Amino acid sequence: MASTNSSASFYVTTPIYYVNDAPHIGHAYTTVAGDFLTRWHRQRGEKVWFLTGVDEHGTKVQRAADAGGVTPQDWVDRLVTADWLPVLETVNAKNDDFIRTTEERHIEAVQRFWEAVRENGYVYAAPYEGPYCVGCEEFKLPGDLVAGNGEFEGQQVCPVHGRPVEQLQEENWFFQLSAFADQLIAHYEANPQAVQPVSAYNEVMSFLRSGLVDISMSRSSVGWGIPLPWDEQQTVYVWFDALLNYITAIGYGQPADSEAGKRFAEIWPANVHLVGKDILRFHAVYWPAMLMAANLPLPGKVFAHGWLLVGGEKMSKTKLTGIAPSQIIDHFGSDAFRYYFLRAISFGNDGSFSWEDMSARYVAELANGLGNLASRGTAMVNRYCDGKLPAAGVATAAETALSDQLVAVVAEADAAMDELDFSTAIVAVKGFVDAVNMYVTEQEPWVLAKDEAQAERLHTVLYTICESLRAMSVLYYPLMPNTMAELWNDLGAVATLGSIDDQHIGDVAHWGQLPVGAPVTKGAGLFPRLEEVAE
Ligand code: MSP
Repeated sequence: MASTNSSASFYVTTPIYYVNDAPHIGHAYTTVAGDFLTRWHRQRGEKVWFLTGVDEHGTKVQRAADAGGVTPQDWVDRLVTADWLPVLETVNAKNDDFIRTTEERHIEAVQRFWEAVRENGYVYAAPYEGPYCVGCEEFKLPGDLVAGNGEFEGQQVCPVHGRPVEQLQEENWFFQLSAFADQLIAHYEANPQAVQPVSAYNEVMSFLRSGLVDISMSRSSVGWGIPLPWDEQQTVYVWFDALLNYITAIGYGQPADSEAGKRFAEIWPANVHLVGKDILRFHAVYWPAMLMAANLPLPGKVFAHGWLLVGGEKMSKTKLTGIAPSQIIDHFGSDAFRYYFLRAISFGNDGSFSWEDMSARYVAELANGLGNLASRGTAMVNRYCDGKLPAAGVATAAETALSDQLVAVVAEADAAMDELDFSTAIVAVKGFVDAVNMYVTEQEPWVLAKDEAQAERLHTVLYTICESLRAMSVLYYPLMPNTMAELWNDLGAVATLGSIDDQHIGDVAHWGQLPVGAPVTKGAGLFPRLEEVAE
């Protein structure tokens, strides 16, 4: 996944989320995944660009605003300010930009893009008649619908929303998607890593091989959208407005010598588009076809992750199953939230959230595992060595085993991050935490401390614990920025090694970085004991 030129940025995007309602943990999940990935790459010393944002046009948002009795613009302004921007702080995301599709920079560039595609000959006028799911904002194809259940028994429904679709009949403008089928197949045959995981790749290939039909790129019956520059009676179909955010946010269409134009040249194409599996077709078929039609380079990878499920179904506000991120974070903190979702669910698979599972992992892995190790290590340096990191004596096999394991753990975690296999990366670091905890149990530094003759051995053990904690804090910093910055500080590393932001993954395994005499403080406890969760 290395960038192809040295000035390029590692560019990662999340989908832009519909502002029909407030965010739930399904949305936060993708944002946290992107944040972990990009923080890891920053920690490698790479240039990074992380984009997220909101999708504000279309029928779904329009109807939500109507139901709320306000204009769509008021509705989105209110929700973005009250909920969507704050949730980034709640989950502690470090995004470089936030795009709103009602911004002028987006609207102008969308119009320019479609003008260019039309000039290239891929847009024509034609009538559309067929089913449309407002929940998906999608023209459905014959094979897309499934038999309904319960109140919709006997009807055809959308498989994602479980509701009947609407029948549309409109005079629209079409995008000539069919012109790109062969090129797309050839592209994915040559670049199998461009759609992941493999199940997603196979789904895209079979869709492509079944043949592509042209698709409406405008809507004549939707007022809340971007007007077509050549036909102001129509607005751009919301997906063909939204997908463009990935280029409009970084300067597409701006003069090559302007700031924005230079940024576009540096950042595009994206390295990774993170998406939920329900929007794979838009990202792995329609989006690259649009880019081909405009003669723009294609993204490196679309990764389709699974769903957070409630009662076996996709969590959604429409079904009233959405949990707000703050409901969990108020209780566990943002670091534990980030840890839990990326560690417990294999990225690419579906997963369920339960308070019991989250509490159990919090206690076992964070509080008792990492937190306890950190507080024991720093407390013993205070108790036995006046808070000054002692010098290590001669290393025995036990210490060498840990420093060797660290080399392997860094390599494994780094390789897993290249595959977007977050849980494997986390489990690798956790394996090191477990090994160091075992080392402490076996070495019994509290027993060594009782015997003057064992002073050197005690110092070796304490140094080894603190040096291991140094490595853990850097490796876990992209995942748990708050607590790991605290640990870094407790180790006296800020004063001696500088900011944790400047530590590189590639250097983590070099043993012996914490200098003797570093001022170690016993912190307040990284993962405090929890009050009972009130459900
Ligand atoms: N607006 C479109 C995306 C346009 S991107 C050019 C959209 N928005 S959405 O708000 O409905 O969902 C966007 C994303 O939120 C999903 O792709 C997924 O990343 C995330 N999730 C929403 N619900 C989710 C779950 N229940 N589980 C996991 N992720 C979920 O589609």
